[in-house]
Amino acid sequence: MAILKILQYPDERLHTVAAPVTEVTGKTRTLIQNMAETMYAAPGIGLAATQVDVHERIIVIDISETHDQLHTLINPEIIAHHGALEYEEGCLSVPGIYGKVKRAESVTISALNAEGKPFTLEASGLLAICIQHEMDHLEGKVFVEYWSAFKLSRVLAKIKKRQRSAM
Ligand code: NI
Repeated sequence: MAILKILQYPDERLHTVAAPVTEVTGKTRTLIQNMAETMYAAPGIGLAATQVDVHERIIVIDISETHDQLHTLINPEIIAHHGALEYEEGCLSVPGIYGKVKRAESVTISALNAEGKPFTLEASGLLAICIQHEMDHLEGKVFVEYWSAFKLSRVLAKIKKRQRSAM
C-alpha cells in the first residue's frame, strides 16, 4: 500500500470531471486500498479519486472513529434525497478552511462496491453530507465553491499567504 499525494486547492486538476469506471480490476482495488490508507493517514473521513489526480468515479469514506467502517463507492448516483442540512465542512484538499454548505439531510445512493457488485445505501447526517461532498469532487467541484465570490476570494488569499510563508 502507499500514501498518495493529495492535490491542494486551487490546483486546476481538482476541476476535472471524473469518468465512470467501466471495469473493476485489480488495479482499481489497489487504488482503493491506497486511497483508504491515504485518507486514514491524513486523517480524513472521505477521499475522492479526483483528489489524488485519478479521474475515475471512485470514493472512499469512513466516518467511524475506529477506522473500521470503510465505504467504497464506485460510480455512485444519488437516487433519492430528502430534507436539508448545513454542516461545517472541511476538505483534505483545502486544509485549515472550514465552513457551511447546504446539503440534503439524507440520500439514497446506488453504486458498485470494491468487488464491482451493485448496492444501494441510505445515509443521513454526517455520512450523507460526506457522500455529497465527495460526489462533488467527481464533478470537479470543491466545497468552498458554494460560497460567495467575496468569501471565496478571502479563502484564496489565505491559501496564498500560507503558501508564501511555507516557502
Ligand atoms: Ni473534499
